[in-house]
Amino acid sequence: MDRSPNAVNGAQDKGAKKVIPPGSTIGVLGGGQLGRMMTLAGTNLGYRFITLDPTPSSPCGHVAEQIVAGYDDQEAAKKLAERSDVITYEFENVDAGVAALLEELSHVPQGSRLLYTTQHRLREKRAVEAAGATVAPYAEIGSEQELSEAVARLGIPSVLKTATGGYDGKGQWVIRSEAEIGPAYAELSKAGTELVLEQFIPFVKELSVIAARSPRGEIRTFPVAENVHVDNILHASIVPARIDEKVQGEAERMASRIAESMEAVGLLAVEMFLTEDGRIYVNELAPRPHNSGHYTMEACATSQFEQHVRAICNLPLGKAKLLTPVVMVNVLGEHVDDVKEAVATGRWGAVESDRIASANIVPKVHLYGKAGSAAKRKMGHVNVLCSDVQEAIDFIQQTAIWRSQPI
Ligand SMILES: Nc1ncnc2c1ncn2[C@@H]1O[C@H](COP(=O)(O)OP(=O)(O)O)[C@@H](O)[C@H]1O
Ligand SMILES: [Mg+2]
Repeated sequence: MDRSPNAVNGAQDKGAKKVIPPGSTIGVLGGGQLGRMMTLAGTNLGYRFITLDPTPSSPCGHVAEQIVAGYDDQEAAKKLAERSDVITYEFENVDAGVAALLEELSHVPQGSRLLYTTQHRLREKRAVEAAGATVAPYAEIGSEQELSEAVARLGIPSVLKTATGGYDGKGQWVIRSEAEIGPAYAELSKAGTELVLEQFIPFVKELSVIAARSPRGEIRTFPVAENVHVDNILHASIVPARIDEKVQGEAERMASRIAESMEAVGLLAVEMFLTEDGRIYVNELAPRPHNSGHYTMEACATSQFEQHVRAICNLPLGKAKLLTPVVMVNVLGEHVDDVKEAVATGRWGAVESDRIASANIVPKVHLYGKAGSAAKRKMGHVNVLCSDVQEAIDFIQQTAIWRSQPI
């Protein structure tokens, strides 16, 4: 059996296992906050960065060189390839033609197979199952009739999702009664992609684990994050997760097994559901740095961004050990002015700075420098370092900034 991660695209012949040393240039497709934080981490290791993004002065473009062009612009992709010793991406919906072109012209150690798999929920579920992990029972849906039959089989509630293009809960419908079958099908089939129905998992917690794998086959996993969503957008990640050590170990082993089985290179984020009886279901994957891994920036010996750079450059991976308990809270458009004010004054809403000092917590602020702020848009995050996660949760809930969003 061919176990090369890039066997499908032949990149191995062009030296997929070579080490890309510091001083080299890393090209990043996508100029958002993930590319920005990757650049900041990789710059410390001595790499140079160039990003391709259609928005001038993108978050990554503030800290790297930027080619301003569309993601499907083949000429611009060629230019990126010429300038880069290695290419990575910060989002998964990379245009297939551009991915193929970049592989042809440059060094893309992540290959295109992992992208191809994770761009489509059905392919992704099959890959997770092939790794020996469990997903929620599901059915492929091609018609309203098939949806009716699948709802009868999987039960109510169940979740209808578009196979491609969904994010932050978009492209989903929780079917809570038979009467919703028709409207749910009509609405989601508008997207023109295949649909998948999943059994609703009554989880007690949502967890995630980020695994890193390098071309030489080394794998490391970061500690499990316990994730709290508000309106389908990640609100907070709590680490260590408040779960059994046994479950933590199992979740990490599962992520590691999936990364190994898919022969991933770079980061692979694995979202999971934990049920009352201690079972873990894999929800979805992302082949890139993940919002639920932002806590690693100050709380781990190596951040997810440094680890990603290490993995794609085939350097030895860093230790992923947790240095301190932490709660990461997202800064959305509706929070950003208050957070800037807190940075400027040291006062976090109603929480006075002397209380913060005595509570043994350290809020570390990361703002992405996005030009336009809009409600629900991710503008930054705060890693609240602490000696006990409850202390950080109390702090976040007591500030006026996030008070209306329970953790
Ligand atoms: N099968 C399911 N059972 C219960 N909750 C689900 C299920 N699928 C999704 N959800 C909820 O919806 C959220 C978003 O779904 P997800 O598949 O992760 O899509 P997205 O790409 O929008 O993150 C999940 O984090 C979870 O809270
Ligand atoms: Mg998700």
